[in-house]
Amino acid sequence: MPDGMSVNYDGLIPNNVGLNEDARVRKALETWHPGYIDWWKDMGPVGFQESLVYLRTAIGVDPKGWAKFDYVRMPEYKWGVLLAPAVEGRIIGFGAHKGEPAWQEVPGEYRAMLRRLLVIQGDTEPASVEQQRHLGATAPSLYDMRNLFQVNVEEGRHLWAMVYLLQKYFGAQGREEADDLLRRRSGHEDTPRMLGAFNEATPDWLSFFMFTFFTDRDGKMQLEALAQSGFDPLSRTARFMLTEEAHHMFVGETGVSRVVERTVAAMKEAGIADPYDVVAVRALGVIDLPTIQRKMNLHFSLTLDLFGNEISTNAANAFNSGLKGRYREDKLADDHRLLDATYPVLRCIDGALVEEPVPALSALNMRLRDDYVADCQGGVGRWNKVIEKAGIAFHLKLPHVAYYRHIGEFARIHADTDGRVLSEVEWEMVRAATLPGEDDRAFIESLMKPVNATGAYTGWIAPPRVSIDNKPGDFEYVKLWEA
Ligand SMILES: [Fe+2]
Ligand SMILES: [Fe+2]
Repeated sequence: MPDGMSVNYDGLIPNNVGLNEDARVRKALETWHPGYIDWWKDMGPVGFQESLVYLRTAIGVDPKGWAKFDYVRMPEYKWGVLLAPAVEGRIIGFGAHKGEPAWQEVPGEYRAMLRRLLVIQGDTEPASVEQQRHLGATAPSLYDMRNLFQVNVEEGRHLWAMVYLLQKYFGAQGREEADDLLRRRSGHEDTPRMLGAFNEATPDWLSFFMFTFFTDRDGKMQLEALAQSGFDPLSRTARFMLTEEAHHMFVGETGVSRVVERTVAAMKEAGIADPYDVVAVRALGVIDLPTIQRKMNLHFSLTLDLFGNEISTNAANAFNSGLKGRYREDKLADDHRLLDATYPVLRCIDGALVEEPVPALSALNMRLRDDYVADCQGGVGRWNKVIEKAGIAFHLKLPHVAYYRHIGEFARIHADTDGRVLSEVEWEMVRAATLPGEDDRAFIESLMKPVNATGAYTGWIAPPRVSIDNKPGDFEYVKLWEA
């Protein structure tokens, strides 16, 4: 096997980074490990810690066969440190150092910036596990429960990935940051997670599917940008994380799609053509399409805030220094320095939305957000196909980027889902009509009854089209009570 392809499972921490020969880092990680397990037991999935879950574990980093499936108790999951194989002779692809050999050590002048990037990325990983910890109790099926736990253990592994880099390359400071990553808590009053969307509740399964579709996809975009990094260990780390992230995207997209599919099927069976006849649709025990739209509005706009200010010197510095590239930087055909280029940014000027050319270096957050929106659009289009096929006149639509924003250009104004700027009074009405309300919450909560029989699904979601690991439809994805 080429260098870095096989994973060493001998020690406490499976890895392909030669931990056995790196006593200092191994000791730091082994010291951190008990705190991690305590965190997992305290803040990870509530209940089910003794259940046997049919999980994939990474056993290599070869894209063709990197995972193996087996029953595992979650606290015994093999969380490891895995980097994608090194690319020989890799060079920095953008910024002021374009063309220089990729760094194997942290350049001194960029230490603080890089540490900050790692901590922010790292903080999101345990946050989402905390946000989703109560969902096992209301799983719509064992298949879905398994997928939830798979996402959870992999977010745990992503935390390991960032903690490894912090401990390996940042000494005592890195160890402190690693400890703090276990100390913050999603939604906590005094010690919250660092980013807004990661302090929101994920109270029900529709929220979970929306979260994995929209918010995990922000993670994907950030990892894509970090995969371009001139700091090679970060690039390799991010590249392997992306292979896991693909499953999270799958869970989100197919989750929402199955909800939509069940809703339109139930409407057809009952002869209901009007998607806005919410009382009739809800009486069927399925989630009406307008409610799905409102959930989308919320999760999309909260996630857009994660991209930060449209115009940002931090983003320019991270690019210029070669630490964080653009989405698929290596596929873009320009000078990769962007010193003279501009990029169109939708701005809010005197209360009106105006597109303005801005120096491209300053507009990198905006650009990544645009790439993100395009990526979301694909999934939404596929959901609409399901509605269309059922012959129901309803179209799910991403709200305008100015809608319900708390960070950046549009934080100071109110806009509707089409981007029309609104007065305070108008907004209150639009808000009530376009964001999930108490009535939606209560209805969705009333549907959240667990279904734990093998091969069975609750009434508001269609069974999946494809199984996990080619298992038959009645496969027991979670053995709940096994001693
Ligand atoms: Fe992640
Ligand atoms: Fe994820």
